[in-house]
Amino acid sequence: MLKTMSYELASRLRDTFQQLEYSTEGLEAIFGTASPPLDQNRNRSRFEYFLNEENAQNTLIRLFLMGETLPRDRAYDLLGQEWMGLAGEIGLTAEDGDLVAATLMIVPYKNMLVASDFPISSAVPKPDDYVIPLGPSAYSLFDMTIRRHNHLTLDLGTGCGVHAIAAARHSNRVLATDISPRSLEVTKFNAALNLMDNIETRQGSLFEPVFNDRFDLIVSNPPFVIVPSQNFTYRENSLELDGLAKTLVQTAPRNLREGGYFQMVFEWVQIDEQPWEERLASWFQSTGCDAWLVKTATEHPSWYAHYRLRELVQKSEADDARIYADCMSYYNEHKVTAVHGGMVTMRKREGKNWLRVETMPDGASGELGPSFLKGFAARDFIEENEDAKFPATRLKLSPSVEAVLHSQFREGSWATGKIDLNLRDAFPVSVEMDGSAVEFLGGFDGQRTTGEVLNALLGQIPEDQRARVKNEALRMVMSMVERGVLVSA
Ligand SMILES: C[S@@+](CC[C@H](N)C(=O)[O-])C[C@H]1O[C@@H](n2cnc3c(N)ncnc32)[C@H](O)[C@@H]1O
Repeated sequence: MLKTMSYELASRLRDTFQQLEYSTEGLEAIFGTASPPLDQNRNRSRFEYFLNEENAQNTLIRLFLMGETLPRDRAYDLLGQEWMGLAGEIGLTAEDGDLVAATLMIVPYKNMLVASDFPISSAVPKPDDYVIPLGPSAYSLFDMTIRRHNHLTLDLGTGCGVHAIAAARHSNRVLATDISPRSLEVTKFNAALNLMDNIETRQGSLFEPVFNDRFDLIVSNPPFVIVPSQNFTYRENSLELDGLAKTLVQTAPRNLREGGYFQMVFEWVQIDEQPWEERLASWFQSTGCDAWLVKTATEHPSWYAHYRLRELVQKSEADDARIYADCMSYYNEHKVTAVHGGMVTMRKREGKNWLRVETMPDGASGELGPSFLKGFAARDFIEENEDAKFPATRLKLSPSVEAVLHSQFREGSWATGKIDLNLRDAFPVSVEMDGSAVEFLGGFDGQRTTGEVLNALLGQIPEDQRARVKNEALRMVMSMVERGVLVSA
């Protein structure tokens, strides 16, 4: 049980982590990574190799990153009586005779110190109130989050509270909710450890604890794993197939303010021959939100079941075989032909809503929040200037655009082949074009209006084709605006 910490105690606890360079940079300098060792990766020996010296920093690392049990007296000598006493009093360490161990793992992430349970160990089954350490879906949600200034933000299914703490830096207030009381206890601890006093925790399912609140931003990394069992609250979709994610898509808008965003990472199934885009489009109808859905991964059910099984503690081979078979008959029974993963950003907006669906482009990396915001602003620009007003707009090529020319050696000389128009961005764009289209886009210099650039093109086209070309060119220009290749001058 963790005790509530005052600001002063939290600062004292935190100071030692800082002084001993227990930070992303500090750990990377030693191990080349700030992530903890994982039994599945069999990399514990590699970590041990760098910890041969007995000193204060290594003691902190052994306790809070490696999860080791140490001789109590040595830990007290190296980290100080007062500090170790404080850690024990708060409940961050537990003593057993002359041994001491940490009760939670602490990992530095993006200038935060984040406590959670230690990663799965093959010896220890996960209890139901397991507070999951940071993992790929948490990193994705962090990177996709739109970080504007908010009055009120919700982190639904907060777990260790990492997204609540990150949002607290750009929100007046954050509500962090979870069905698990232990998660909220750890979230409160993390909020204090990171010196945040604007996070309120509330226990309950989905939107129940925030029924009367309206948010500028809702983020969620919900339990989205698609398996027939319901043994682990922190990971498994509690409704049929991807039902929990669908419920969130359809209920979140009620708790958004006009213009507010809902962002979620999740997984969904493909049923039989039905295109997944068509199935998901039906989720977003009548939500009163614009939505931008990005698919990042696709697995055949047989692989998906394998990967999800591998995350569990192996009790026996026979048990593995049973769990795997249960998963496969669940997928077969529901005609699941693929499982997809990705992220969605929804924005509440009155009017005719749009849905943008795409696959994550190659090379996407880093913080995508600004790219999402730009994408929504571009759609607003198109909407505001649609039809009659569009020719009067002044556009220019984004300064981050470059054209890459591919040449092929044919019959003794280099022949110009396709051209890729690339936008360098966290969410990159690459469009294959021919020379005339690239030339046409080059005409958008920020001085001439769209109508003038179009007329210059149409002047070179036979009259009977002008209406069609104008229509096609205009659609292409709008698509380039939507994707950030052309921007308002
Ligand atoms: C995948 S974990 C994500 C934790 C954390 N937000 C992160 O990104 O690391 C999902 C969290 O949702 C919580 N949860 C599960 N079912 C829930 C429900 N019906 N309502 C609210 N939270 C729920 C779990 O307890 C768990 O903490």
